[in-house]
Amino acid sequence: MRRTDINVAVPKESVPGERRVAGTPESVARLISLGFEVTAETGAGEDSGFADGAYRDAGASIADDCWSDAAVILKVRPPSHQEASRVRDGAIIICLFDGDPDAEAMATLASKKASVVALDRVPRISRAQSMDVLSSMASLAGYRAVIEAAAQFDRPLGAQVTAAGSSRPARVLVIGAGVAGLAAIGAARSLGAEVRAIDTRPPTREQVESLGATFLELDLDFDGEGEGGYAKVLADDILKAEQDLVLAQAPEIDIIVTTALIPGRPAPLLITREALRAMRAGSVILDLAALRGGNCEGTRRDEIIEIEGVKVIGYSDLPSRMGETASRFFAANVANLVKEMTTDGALTIDLENEIVRGATIMHEGERLEPPPPKMPSPAPPAASATKPEPTALKPLAPANPRRRTAITGIAALVLVGLMLMLGRYAPQSFLPHFTVFILACFVGWQVVWNVTPALHTPLMSVTNAISGIIIIGGLLQAGSGEWTAAAILGGIAVLVATINIAGGFLVTQRMLRMFRREGA
Ligand code: NAI
Repeated sequence: MRRTDINVAVPKESVPGERRVAGTPESVARLISLGFEVTAETGAGEDSGFADGAYRDAGASIADDCWSDAAVILKVRPPSHQEASRVRDGAIIICLFDGDPDAEAMATLASKKASVVALDRVPRISRAQSMDVLSSMASLAGYRAVIEAAAQFDRPLGAQVTAAGSSRPARVLVIGAGVAGLAAIGAARSLGAEVRAIDTRPPTREQVESLGATFLELDLDFDGEGEGGYAKVLADDILKAEQDLVLAQAPEIDIIVTTALIPGRPAPLLITREALRAMRAGSVILDLAALRGGNCEGTRRDEIIEIEGVKVIGYSDLPSRMGETASRFFAANVANLVKEMTTDGALTIDLENEIVRGATIMHEGERLEPPPPKMPSPAPPAASATKPEPTALKPLAPANPRRRTAITGIAALVLVGLMLMLGRYAPQSFLPHFTVFILACFVGWQVVWNVTPALHTPLMSVTNAISGIIIIGGLLQAGSGEWTAAAILGGIAVLVATINIAGGFLVTQRMLRMFRREGA
């Protein structure tokens, strides 16, 4: 059913240089299928490559003023005071809030009993991943950071070998291996650079290494994992140790992409002037944390400046530099959030919904404080259906070493007991088969152990596929020519193993396609 009383507006962004739009023709079509009327402002998507006609084709209307009638407004940047004054009473505004909102605009929205859902406050839990604008934008920002840094760098990133000479791969240091940092590592590696990375949270090591980069360890007995899976604020001595590590790396490094940040805090200073001095002239630093003061001494937001011969880039609009893709991702996240907020065809702010509550900063004119953080419970009740899912960034529960040793000891004893029983009672013909089985387990373990964790799933599907040995056994039994139980079971084994082999290859192909670059 069409809800003509709920008009969703997609205005054109007014901040100079902002190329993104919060609704694309594709996302608008989804909103319309949810039952909403959608109006896009004239030229809303033109900076990101979406013409008015495409919105019209998707079912939206185009208007010069989409604000005054709209019950829901989808934006990228927060409304200015002037925009807030055009909002109708009781409207819902869904947009990024980027730290401190404009006080005048907020007062105007409050006087209109408006509600504000801040996309940057959507909790980073797995159920909300499809609505996580911060992650989709940070991922693009990390990629673009490498491209921008490479454009300012005076050498190629990958090794070059020509008849006229050769050059070594550039060395890239990524500080902060969160969403943006991991995307930067992936991009730098794919351009052929040698990449090193630092992060204060231990679980990032495996992610860094699975992307083929080297993880640099802070030589201190310290766990940087803080609340909610984010990093901890560093004590002065640890911060100094990290600055020293960066300083020690500086002479060897060509490009630094730095993303270290704890939400709501000023960026820690990790690249000191001394480190800048130690870098080769012509090196480049891209400081993604420029939005919060920067990780590098002297970073200036939205500028490229040269300090001690090093180019320091402080761009804060990296996703917007890829307007088309950034808009598509952004708009898809927004449409998913709108869907989450839609019950029985009506869009409501349900403060019982963890995602909606986390993101709502104003409800019908009342400012809402962020909800208290959920403390991780040591033994959560198993049947709790409303229990928040673990965040993608949360640490794995640390294993208890004593318990682990006890379990290993018991397992070893059981194994030895089993061996003795087998040696005593098993028929002679069984023992050679058993020895082969144990050796196969050992060899299989060694093979899998040395494979990069990221490739485990395709490996497993291939090993499933090559389990054709079962087919041979099954055929031998089934081919006996008699209807014995062994022959029937052999036939079933052949059938199941065939499904396994075909399925294994199919899954492998799908997995490997994920690792391939488009067009490759
Ligand atoms: P995130 O929270 O996923 O990652 C930040 C990482 O920094 C975490 O892994 C954390 O453990 C690490 N970290 C914190 N303190 C550290 C320290 N002292 N040393 C080493 N690592 C440390 O955040 P996300 O989404 O990856 O964003 C990263 C940064 O990029 C943020 O500052 C964000 O504001 C910025 N950003 C900038 C954009 C731009 O256009 N310039 C666009 C999007 C994001």
